[in-house]
Amino acid sequence: RPLSVVTLCGSLRAGSYNAALQRTLPELAPEGMTLTALEGLGDIPLYNSDVQAQGFPAAVTAMGEAIAAADGIIIVTPEYNYSIPGVLKNGIDWLSRLPDTPFAGKPMAIQSASMSVLGGVRAQYHLRQVAVFLDARVLNKPEVMVASVQQRVQDGRLTDEGTREVIRKQLAAFAAFIGAANA
Ligand code: FNR
Repeated sequence: RPLSVVTLCGSLRAGSYNAALQRTLPELAPEGMTLTALEGLGDIPLYNSDVQAQGFPAAVTAMGEAIAAADGIIIVTPEYNYSIPGVLKNGIDWLSRLPDTPFAGKPMAIQSASMSVLGGVRAQYHLRQVAVFLDARVLNKPEVMVASVQQRVQDGRLTDEGTREVIRKQLAAFAAFIGAANA
């Protein structure tokens, strides 16, 4: 059966390297896996339980439904101050409060890109900690940390063949991981 996977980018800027990575994923996916980018992270207001009490913002509900309907989610994120960006954490915080949290039991894979030589690894390990509370099922390996990303992206697409191969392997592993989770 075909697998539908949604992708979420932790950067809002138009020229984002992580968005370039996210944009390139469909061409690296194994046969039968479709990848759809989640929109609207930047439309989610700052988390406030008083606001939640008035009803969930439409951007949260829509994203939650899209994640719930998907077989898995891939989060592609920059590292900000050795952690994940506040916008991503804010979105996750909102989504986690939905009556049926869409992350529980959901297969998740993580990717990061950075201009540094570590490729955002510290953000990935913070995100893994958050995923424990979400009760998501996070793929361990292969890890995708794109270091010196400015040398690997051209015209808004990931062009470096070595990196593309690592990502192909992660997406294939993710397909198998989802299959095992659904078995
Ligand atoms: C950064 N950047 C950064 N990079 C890194 O490798 N480790 C870090 O801790 C940080 N910290 C950090 C904090 C803040 C507030 C900003 C704005 C930036 C640099 C960051 O990786 C770089 O700007 C990336 O290009 C951001 O990703 P996108 O937007 O290109 O996807």
